[in-house]
Amino acid sequence: MAQRPSTAPKSAKVPASGGKPWETAKSGAGSASDPLATRFVESLSYDRRLYKHDIAGSLAHARMLAKVGLITADECRQIEGGLAAIQAEIDAEGEQWGGWNQELEDLHMCLEAALIEKIDEPGRKLHTGRSRNDQVALDLKLWVEDAATDIEHALEDLAFAFVELARRDGRIVMPGYTHLQRAQPIVVGGELLAWASIFDRAGRRLTAVRTLIPRNPLGSGALAGSSLPLDRQAVADALPALGDPTPNSIDATSNRETALDMTYCLAIAAMNLSRWAEQWVLYNTSEFGFIHLDDRYTTGSSMMPQKRNPDMLELIRGRTGGVYGNLFALLTMCKGLPLGYNRDLQEDKRQVFAAYDCVRDCLVMARRIVLTTRFNSERIEAGLDRGFLDATSLAEYLVTRGVAFRTAHQIVGGLVRTCEQRGLHALAQLALGDLQAACSAAGYPGDTCGADAFSWLGAARVVARYQTFGNAGLTGFEQQMQAWETRLAEVSRAPSSV
Ligand code: ARG
Repeated sequence: MAQRPSTAPKSAKVPASGGKPWETAKSGAGSASDPLATRFVESLSYDRRLYKHDIAGSLAHARMLAKVGLITADECRQIEGGLAAIQAEIDAEGEQWGGWNQELEDLHMCLEAALIEKIDEPGRKLHTGRSRNDQVALDLKLWVEDAATDIEHALEDLAFAFVELARRDGRIVMPGYTHLQRAQPIVVGGELLAWASIFDRAGRRLTAVRTLIPRNPLGSGALAGSSLPLDRQAVADALPALGDPTPNSIDATSNRETALDMTYCLAIAAMNLSRWAEQWVLYNTSEFGFIHLDDRYTTGSSMMPQKRNPDMLELIRGRTGGVYGNLFALLTMCKGLPLGYNRDLQEDKRQVFAAYDCVRDCLVMARRIVLTTRFNSERIEAGLDRGFLDATSLAEYLVTRGVAFRTAHQIVGGLVRTCEQRGLHALAQLALGDLQAACSAAGYPGDTCGADAFSWLGAARVVARYQTFGNAGLTGFEQQMQAWETRLAEVSRAPSSV
């Protein structure tokens, strides 16, 4: 398309109203005339963190406009230069940048105004064929792409922190719990690598979201596209992270599923962080005494001098509710929205940014706590012979001797009762005769149970006997550890920090 020189008189560039540059159809100053309306409608206070993404989108859009002849190559160069200068200014000045003006509502209009201020006429052409509706949809997707990568790294770093702690304390034998009741013995590393798996999976969930993000909304305009010959594929090719153009302009400008996916992933991460925090709050009590938290991550009481409260863990647990709130706010915001952009959608960023900021801080804090925590092996060991942790092991021994499992379960259940009646606290305190009598009573020959039964008792022996893949005892721990060490050796990134 041939580009004609602009013939517009300078006076036509100034809105007659004295209001927002795009509200010339209104009388007076429009929404700018009521300060509450200005404050009410703005998103600048929270969307300015998208400036790099917005500028990246504008650069791709401008280059496409030049490619299809809607602006000249020189105008494109001026736009590129102007946007680069603006980005450098914001990089340096942040919130202090002089171009932020709440009366312009949002970051998109502030950047455009600053560009026009710098390069005038070519800057006035940047918005050709574009709306803030496709612009903000693009910015948010680009932001999620970066933020998801960042959280993936923070999750992986947290998983690695559990691996590091497991390398040191992982072979300590401890009670494993179901219903928070003593169940079967495990090694500390079994639990630590459970957390590593959980946070690793949370990271992979984000990788999946990033593969769903693809499709670039730019060129969808306000809702219907444009009658100008925009080359959407060229824009999409310039921003390869998002892939091809979105196939439907109405959908592209009015859905926020990328933000929802991201926030859901953050909510799952927060949910798991809160489980871990709760577990360690318990382990840190005098009653359990399983771990020692570093003094950096506990706080004192203003009244009780002896206190070391696990506040960081409690705050991680407590903040999860806020992240769920963000997810529900987003879901509720999108519920019932008719097609096409609705201003409700502006609120999406508040929620997803808040969830991201919260979870990111929690992940980094969690990593620091994990790296500085010690498991108290003496304390754990001292209570290991309580709770009949080896009862299932004895039943499995009987299975190896030909007893049907259900019967073995009943025999051992009876032996536990015998212990309790005699005031004994462990199956190993019974005599071989007691075990054999229980077998006979169940209809098996007494010698079904040999003296070797005792080598199946005691937590330390039990954890050495587990042989199934993925077990929480020694072999399972060593296998998982090997896989983690291999993976750790392959990662060259520096750990994420705030
Ligand atoms: N600031 C808005 C948002 O974040 C984009 C502006 C769309 N405004 C409009 N009048 N169509 O969603």
